[in-house]
Amino acid sequence: MLSAAYLTFLLTSLSVARGQQVGTNQAETHPRLSWQTCTRSGCTANSNGSIALDANWRWTHVTSGYTNCYTGNTWNTSVCTDGAACSKNCAVEGANYQQTYGITTSGNALTLKFVTKSEQTNIGSRVYLMASDSRYQMFNLLNKEFTLDVDVSKLPCGLNGAVYFVQMDADGGMSRFPNNKAGAKYGTGYCDSQCPRDIKYIDGEANVAGWQPSPNDTNAGTGNYGTCCSEMDIWEANSISTAYTPHPCRTSNSGGQQRCTGQQCGTPIRHDGICDPDGCDFNSFRMGEKEFYGPGKTVDTNKKMTVVTQFLTNNNSTTGTLTEIRRLYVQDGRVIQNSKTNFPNLMPAYDSITGKFCDDTKKAFGDATSFQKQGGLQQMGAGLAKGHVLVLSIWDDHTANMLWLDSNYPTDGDPNKPGIARGTCPTSSGNPKDVEAQSPNAQVIYSNIKFGDIGTTYTAR
Ligand SMILES: *[C@@H]1O[C@H](CO)[C@@H](O)[C@H](O)[C@H]1NC(C)=O
Ligand SMILES: *[C@@H]1O[C@H](CO)[C@@H](O)[C@H](O)[C@H]1NC(C)=O
Ligand SMILES: *[C@@H]1O[C@H](CO)[C@@H](O)[C@H](O)[C@H]1NC(C)=O
Ligand SMILES: *[C@@H]1O[C@H](CO)[C@@H](O)[C@H](O)[C@H]1NC(C)=O
Ligand SMILES: *[C@@H]1O[C@H](CO)[C@@H](O)[C@H](O)[C@H]1NC(C)=O
Repeated sequence: MLSAAYLTFLLTSLSVARGQQVGTNQAETHPRLSWQTCTRSGCTANSNGSIALDANWRWTHVTSGYTNCYTGNTWNTSVCTDGAACSKNCAVEGANYQQTYGITTSGNALTLKFVTKSEQTNIGSRVYLMASDSRYQMFNLLNKEFTLDVDVSKLPCGLNGAVYFVQMDADGGMSRFPNNKAGAKYGTGYCDSQCPRDIKYIDGEANVAGWQPSPNDTNAGTGNYGTCCSEMDIWEANSISTAYTPHPCRTSNSGGQQRCTGQQCGTPIRHDGICDPDGCDFNSFRMGEKEFYGPGKTVDTNKKMTVVTQFLTNNNSTTGTLTEIRRLYVQDGRVIQNSKTNFPNLMPAYDSITGKFCDDTKKAFGDATSFQKQGGLQQMGAGLAKGHVLVLSIWDDHTANMLWLDSNYPTDGDPNKPGIARGTCPTSSGNPKDVEAQSPNAQVIYSNIKFGDIGTTYTAR
């Protein structure tokens, strides 16, 4: 995404190593972000926590100078004749977090701005919580609770402030793929349950083969390869709607990162890949409780709120089988229990994600059952037990205008039919072109991250 202005920078020492390389123009300094781990005896600060920007947002240029390897939505095919040559010839650069990407931290708070104009215009971002300079922080959520404060008051229709866990390698894939010289420090190794094909470097190789620039996104395209892994969405939200959603995968290593091609990635047949792209979502509005979440509603999105997510197992152990994912909120010192499904003629009143909740909602809504096909909560839990990386992002949606989160979807469905209405945003909203033009100052603030034993990460006044 970056280019012109940087070309004038002085050349500094240049890498001669093989593989996806590291640039030397801008030192990579991870903004610090403190967070806490909690037990019955209290919470302890991890004051040396930090975040790293995903590699896809970074400037990638030739190791022998500052010619772009990738500009806008295309690779430079004279340098990147194929994936192997490209990753040998090209480096990813350090990031100027605030100036270029609109990413700032202060104490335990992280602010992600939507549109940031410097030499280039940057749209959105994706960052990871680090355990050290070169490794992602790994979490096993089973029999644990994950909590954070979110401020979505400046996130309108069409935007998504997302907090989720994916089963990436702790080192970004460096040890499994020695051609990857950048590793977690430079935010490599991303994967999720959509098996995204817009990732520039996968398994230490550039995704050059078959690369097609996106017809409607000047910064993105898709290559032949995708990158799949299990994904647990804690929080996908704007000020209008929110959802939490497990997405299991049957990759060759219990949901861990696996490069895919063709049908494995879920193309052309969406539900025949190795991951569950739909998930089993709990969106209060979609579940029939329309006054629960939003501006001035029970959970008031005009104000900061605490979001608590609990991962219960069959035997109250971190090695147990995942059986239930519970949600509660704390706002103004008051605990607010999750809303309940409100389809009395179709199902019992569920207030959490369980196997029965997933079976009943998929059936009632006429949704595909890829969640069950990919192993459901049990497979999600098997993946969580292996360790997941925490992702925090802000994004707009060039595929479906975020209408699956905050409007009627499919847009021609009858909104009175259970499952169609997901929020109050108009079906005409969420076009990235409009959102970027009308809400450049949109932002999300995540703060006060806590991880620990069930019931220990929040307090009520
Ligand atoms: C700080 O990071 C190191 C690894 O870099 C880790 O071993 C240590 O536990 C961390 N300290 C705290 C307080 O989190
Ligand atoms: C592509 O790379 C070649 C070789 O380094 C360079 O001459 C050319 O200017 C680059 N093209 C673009 C669009 O950056
Ligand atoms: C797990 O903990 C819950 C809540 O404390 C308790 O009700 C339940 O009986 C426990 N289950 C097992 C198998 O120990
Ligand atoms: C919990 O159950 C799992 C199987 O579901 C078993 O492997 C594990 O040993 C159990 N853990 C404890 C502490 O009972
Ligand atoms: C944008 O392009 C993608 C294909 O790259 C397509 O799937 C999607 O429907 C398009 N979205 C819009 C809003 O045109």
